[in-house]
Amino acid sequence: MPVAVVVGTQWGDEGKAKVIDLLAGKHSHVVRYQGGHNAGHTVVVGDQRYALQLVPSGVLYDSVTPVIGNGVVVDLPTLFKEIDELQRRGVSCERLRVSSLAQLIFPWHQMHDALAESALGDAKIGTTLKGIGPAYADKALRVGIRAGDVRDPKRFATLVRERGTSANTLITALGGAAFDVEDVVAQFSELGARLLPYIADTVNLLHDALEAGNNILLEGAQATFLDIDHGTYPFVTSSNPTAGGACAGTGIGPRDITRVVGIAKAYTTRVGSGPFPTELIGELGDAIVDIGHEFGTVTGRRRRPGWLDLVMLRHAVRLNSLSELALTKLDVLDTFDTVRVCTGYMVDGKSLSGYPDDIELLGKVTATYVDMPGWKQPLRACRSFAEMPEAARRVVELVEQHIGIPVSIVGVGPERDDCVLRA
Ligand code: GDP
Ligand code: IMO
Ligand code: MG
Repeated sequence: MPVAVVVGTQWGDEGKAKVIDLLAGKHSHVVRYQGGHNAGHTVVVGDQRYALQLVPSGVLYDSVTPVIGNGVVVDLPTLFKEIDELQRRGVSCERLRVSSLAQLIFPWHQMHDALAESALGDAKIGTTLKGIGPAYADKALRVGIRAGDVRDPKRFATLVRERGTSANTLITALGGAAFDVEDVVAQFSELGARLLPYIADTVNLLHDALEAGNNILLEGAQATFLDIDHGTYPFVTSSNPTAGGACAGTGIGPRDITRVVGIAKAYTTRVGSGPFPTELIGELGDAIVDIGHEFGTVTGRRRRPGWLDLVMLRHAVRLNSLSELALTKLDVLDTFDTVRVCTGYMVDGKSLSGYPDDIELLGKVTATYVDMPGWKQPLRACRSFAEMPEAARRVVELVEQHIGIPVSIVGVGPERDDCVLRA
């Protein structure tokens, strides 16, 4: 089982970090492959809660080398804030490695993100305002600055000065205030020096680890329906969270990947704008948000709640070639009389054969549901499938029937051990 990928199958915040933390102990490296500090990955161990944005979720294990892969966009102030906070809490980050090929985020990317969002007005994407889109745009334009560029401090300062000067022109043209380029050069020269010991040729590092017989875990951020190609464009992020992105974002080829674990919440949430066929507006939705604490880890925004959508999940199985699913937060539905699960979409009285390639159409579909009786008792103490109440087992079995892959993990609470393992 050399390389496993963990990927979100909805619109993010499915509980990826908890599953990664659960699996990490059997892997030598945990590698982030895309996204940046727009991610908010929560790991709960005992009374300690860790909210990670850039540092991979395997960091809590001494035996794991956490790696920030080449596909990630790295915000250095956030990275060091996170490292300092982890070290203050007794978690060593010395083993962390950052790909020399990873792109860096600069303050002008964040300014650009904010200006672009405000220019969109009501049509805004609802980004995290972390500069993710503009940083990936610069990568595609081939004017980005990479982590490995700090190896030559003089050249790095020159690059920051050049890019900063042209970014200033863009920012002011978009109606923003000009910034002091030399301040940014000074700040990033210091940050660059601090980054130096973490930089590595992570592609060869990972292949050497594989050749030595180790297992590697690739950590997706965001999720399938936020994917820039396959998500609800333009209401998406600017990278490829789908499993294919794990190859490009780490330099590991597809034949090395033997396990792809999709993560789905037992209901659905979405932060930011965009279509959402099973969205729940009203009391039931509020109950999900309250019980599930559905507020963004990074931005604090209330997440939009909805029922589980198996049309989306079936599509996620295809897009990611999922081998199994982890169904998280089933315990959040403990008190519900009825648990609804969407199994189809209707438009103009006709049922659609699958997930549509047109978001206008997705915005118009009516979800059709199967109503399952609730179990009305706490799941948290369950540690085996047999211990779960029959009504909860039937929901898990319904999911398996519809998506055609096994549900190998069921989440019954936020802590590391709060899960039922079925594999
Ligand atoms: P990620 O972005 O996919 O890693 O997910 P987040 O960390 O943003 O959000 C998931 C939230 O649900 C976190 O607060 C987790 O601690 C919590 N969580 C994860 N799995 C479970 C579960 O099975 N039950 C409950 N009640 N909470 C969970
Ligand atoms: P994790 O890894 C949920 C959403 C934003 C917005 C869209 C684009 O914790 O699941 P961006 O800043 O990436 O340009 O924003 O994507 N978004 C997330 N939603 N979880 C995340 O990460 C997200 N990262 C980005 O809310 O709708
Ligand atoms: Mg999150």
